[in-house]
Amino acid sequence: MTSDPRLVVISNRVAVPKARGAAGAQGGLAGALHAALKSREGLWFGWSGEESESGRTGHIDTQTNDGVTTATIDLSQRDIDEYYNGYANATLWPLFHDRLDLAEYERETAKGYERVNERFAELSAPLIGPDDVVWVHDYHLIPLGERLRARGVQNRIGFFLHIPWPPTRLFVSLPYHERLVRTLLNYDVVGFQTKEWLDSFLHYCEHELGAEIDRNSGKVSFEGRTTIARAYPIGIDWDHFSRLGETGEARQAQQRLMSSTRRRAAMIGVDRLDYSKGIPERIDGIGRFFDRNPERVSDLVFVQIAPPSREDVESYQKIRAELEQKCGQINGARSEVDMVPIRYVNRGYSHAELFGFFRAAKIGLVTPLRDGMNLVAKEYVAAQDPEDPGVLVLSRFAGAAAQLKDAVLVNPHSPDDIAHAIRMALDMPLEERKRRYQAMIGTVRDDNVQEWTANFLRDLGTA
Ligand code: G6P
Repeated sequence: MTSDPRLVVISNRVAVPKARGAAGAQGGLAGALHAALKSREGLWFGWSGEESESGRTGHIDTQTNDGVTTATIDLSQRDIDEYYNGYANATLWPLFHDRLDLAEYERETAKGYERVNERFAELSAPLIGPDDVVWVHDYHLIPLGERLRARGVQNRIGFFLHIPWPPTRLFVSLPYHERLVRTLLNYDVVGFQTKEWLDSFLHYCEHELGAEIDRNSGKVSFEGRTTIARAYPIGIDWDHFSRLGETGEARQAQQRLMSSTRRRAAMIGVDRLDYSKGIPERIDGIGRFFDRNPERVSDLVFVQIAPPSREDVESYQKIRAELEQKCGQINGARSEVDMVPIRYVNRGYSHAELFGFFRAAKIGLVTPLRDGMNLVAKEYVAAQDPEDPGVLVLSRFAGAAAQLKDAVLVNPHSPDDIAHAIRMALDMPLEERKRRYQAMIGTVRDDNVQEWTANFLRDLGTA
C-alpha cells in the first residue's frame, strides 16, 4: 500500500467474480481496472451485470476479492434496456466507432442514460470520502462527473474514455451533442487512448463549443472552468501476464493447440463478438488468401475465439449470424474429412489459456475496423517466444497501431490486404520476426497498465 489518497473507480462494468460473461469476455476495461486497483487502496463502484428489483431499492453489494473491494448495484430491466442496451450500446458505441449506419437516436433511451447516471451519482456520492480521488470510466458514464458535482462532490474527478472519440463531422449527428461535451468539461482531467482521439475531441471543443485550447498543456478552458485533456495509452498488466507463461495452465493450452494443428501453422483471433472488431472482414481476408493460394490451405488453421457480447442488441445478433454464415461457407468449401480450416469458438478462456494459445499461434490477427486501443494485440506480443516469435498482423485503425508500428499493419476493409499480410507473415524469415518483436516488446512491457494509472493519476493530482 502507498500513502496515496484512496482511489474511487467508477465504471459500468466491474470485474466481480459473479459478473455476467465468461472469462475473457469482459473486454479490456475490466482487466485493466482490476490491475490498477490491486496495487493501491481503493474502491470500485459499478453495475453488477445483474438485473433485479433491488435496482430500485439502491442496495449496494460490497465484496473484497483478490485485494480489490467492489461495491456494485443491480439495475432494473428498464434501466438495462434504455441505458446499457439502448443509449450506451446502440447510440454511443456505434457512433464513437464511426458506424453512423448502426447508431439509433431515441429520446427514451437518452433519458434512461441520464436517469441511470443520476442513479450512479446518488448511490456513489455517499461512498466518496473528502480526500478520495475519483476516476470515472468510459462512454456509459460521461455525465457522471457533472451529476456528482451537482451533489456537492468537490474532490478531484477524472474521466477516461476507453473507446475512440469520433471526428466532429460524425459526432455532431448526435442530438444534444453539445450537452454531452459540456458535462465532460466538469472533470479535472479527461483522458483518451491516442493522440488521434484527443485531437478529434479538441477539434470539437474549439470549433463547436468555442472553448479556448492550449495544445501544449492540454488545457481546455470554457465558461470559467479548465479541464486537462491528454492521451494516456493503456497497457497490459505486464508483471502478471508475462508470468503466466510459467503456469501449467498456459503450457497445457499451448500444447493443446499445437498438437491439434500438427504441421499446420495456427493463426489466432480473440475478440468480443462485436462488429467493431472486423471479424467478418477478417474471414473474407482469409477466404481471399485461400482463393489466391489454394495449395496453402493445408498450411494454415485459423482459430477465432469470439465470446458473445451484448446479445440483446440487434446489431450484435446480426453480426453473429453473419459470422456463422461466413465461417460455414469457407469451411464447407475448404474442409477435408480430417481438416477444418476455420475453428470458430463462441466462448471465453482464462488469461493463462489465452497466453498458451497466443504462444502456440504463428500469426496473431487483430483487425478491428475501429478500436480505442486493443489489448489483445499487446498480449499477443507479450506471449511470444523471443527466440521464435510469431507475427502480429494489426489493423491500422486500432489505437495500438500508434505504438506497435512494427506489426504488419493492414487495412481491415481490404480482403486483398489481409490475404497479402497472411502470406507475408507465413513466409517471414526468423530474423525479421525477431527484429519486429524486439521493436515492439519494449513498449508492451514498459507502457503497462501500472504506468498508465500512475500517469493519469499524477495529472489528476496536480490538475
Ligand atoms: C469495451 C468497453 C468497456 C466494456 C467492454 C466489454 O472494452 O470500452 O467499457 O466493459 O467493451 O463490454 P460490456 O458491454 O460487456 O461491458
